[in-house]
Amino acid sequence: MANELEKENAAIAAMEFVEDGMTIGLGTGSTAKFFVDLLAEEIADGLVVRCIETSEQTRRQAESLGVPLIPFEQVDRIHLTVDGADEVDQAGNLIKGGGAALLREKIIANASDHMVVIADPSKQVERLGQFPLPVEVTPFGYTITARKVYDVLVASGIERPRVELRTQPDGKLVVTDGSNYILDCHCQRIPDAEALAARLSNVPGVVEHGLFIGIARTIIIGNENGATVFEF
Ligand code: A5P
Repeated sequence: MANELEKENAAIAAMEFVEDGMTIGLGTGSTAKFFVDLLAEEIADGLVVRCIETSEQTRRQAESLGVPLIPFEQVDRIHLTVDGADEVDQAGNLIKGGGAALLREKIIANASDHMVVIADPSKQVERLGQFPLPVEVTPFGYTITARKVYDVLVASGIERPRVELRTQPDGKLVVTDGSNYILDCHCQRIPDAEALAARLSNVPGVVEHGLFIGIARTIIIGNENGATVFEF
């Protein structure tokens, strides 16, 4: 499938940023999975790195492939994080959290010297907001928090937003690795992502939101023949 090849080619290009001795943050999702596979191959061939995972899903993959993981508490520096994204705008700002891992993803990306995003071309947008914005909230008071989040969306110029509690196909609530819930905010178009990010962070009960503003330094968009690298 072309899309899978595009993702894999983005991951291959990201390997150029890997150096011996690095501590590396491992992202979550179908694109980041390619990167972990490639990294595991290099480790089997003698590359020495230490890694930290952004989700239980990635932890399971890394462990099964023999990728060495260290607890976050033992990390003094993360040189590089490679992760996917749900949307990437022209300034390198992102929406993340489609896989419900946004809290650990943001903590690790923000603590890294260098965040590299790998994606296929379908993730590129002129303006963020077509992909529903994930917002992680505490279970305590989540109905009130959802209402406050709705008010913030309206105050941020989003027309007729819809805020939905994320559920699994069987109807059970999605519970994150941090034991929280996810609100998916259908915005269609976010006029000012930076302003919205600041407002959401001010809502009590919001643990984190999926707007990654000014965090990614390199965006790699894979294609069928290779990849294009954008630096910010
Ligand atoms: C996980 O919470 C997300 O931030 C993922 O990085 C994002 O959803 C991209 O996933 P895919 O690579 O599977 O599209």
